[in-house]
Amino acid sequence: KHALSVTKLKKMKQDGNPISVLTAYDYPSAKLAEEAGIDVLLVGDSLGNVVLGYDTTIPVTLDDMVYHSRAVARGAANTFIVADLPFATYRLGQEATLRNAARLMQEGGVQAVKMEGGADLAEEIGTLVRSGIPVMGHIGLTPQSINQIGSYKVHGKMPEEISRLIEDAKALEKAGVFALVLELVTDQVAAQITRELSIPTIGIGAGASCDGQVLVYHDLLQYASPYRAKKFVKTYADIGTTVRQAIGEFVQEVKNRSFPLEEHSFSSGQASSSVPVY
Ligand code: KIV
Ligand code: NA
Repeated sequence: KHALSVTKLKKMKQDGNPISVLTAYDYPSAKLAEEAGIDVLLVGDSLGNVVLGYDTTIPVTLDDMVYHSRAVARGAANTFIVADLPFATYRLGQEATLRNAARLMQEGGVQAVKMEGGADLAEEIGTLVRSGIPVMGHIGLTPQSINQIGSYKVHGKMPEEISRLIEDAKALEKAGVFALVLELVTDQVAAQITRELSIPTIGIGAGASCDGQVLVYHDLLQYASPYRAKKFVKTYADIGTTVRQAIGEFVQEVKNRSFPLEEHSFSSGQASSSVPVY
């Protein structure tokens, strides 16, 4: 169980062994990703956008995260799982941060938590790490701050922004994060951060130099994702089209009575055998 640990992730960086990370939100997404050999699963608060239909991640609650984390943990019992601490749940003081992170681990069944932000999170991170809760950092684009930053733009183009990103990355490593997500950060800055830190960087829209890459499940599969046109996303399948076509066929076959056939039906007078249902 849990072939991977925080220590092994750090070793993967040292060995130049790239780390694959994918988001998951429920039992089937987690199960399929584990079967496919993913290194780390992230129960991202992108849950709000791709599963719950919100415009931003801000409405996602801790209860939402716990509920979905449990389903992911049931689907991928042998995979290292990280869950996002949602909006404002790690900004109410260290006691509340610890209580909230502990819920994700104890009730949600995940092995680590992630929080968005820079150097100002050092105390919160220290409290969690000292309590046995591994923390993943997240800088660059931080969607929970969308109402402050205004748009989903690329970070690390302006000199002041570059030094801030590098300072934050170093402060987070010092505070004890085991890995750092770089979201929408220029190639050059992501490469510099990756070089200067001993913990792995996990990029999304942050170039090829990062120690690992993360994508959102629904983006990778083109599964009704609102982000599928984004430059940093590569779609490896078009599940949305497949699902829509399959459901369309079902609708047609019900309408024209070509489903169900005799082979899908039960007759009286036959020996009873048990049928698995829900
Ligand atoms: O919520 C999420 O999916 C994330 C990843 C994009 C890193 O935070
Ligand atoms: Na997130």
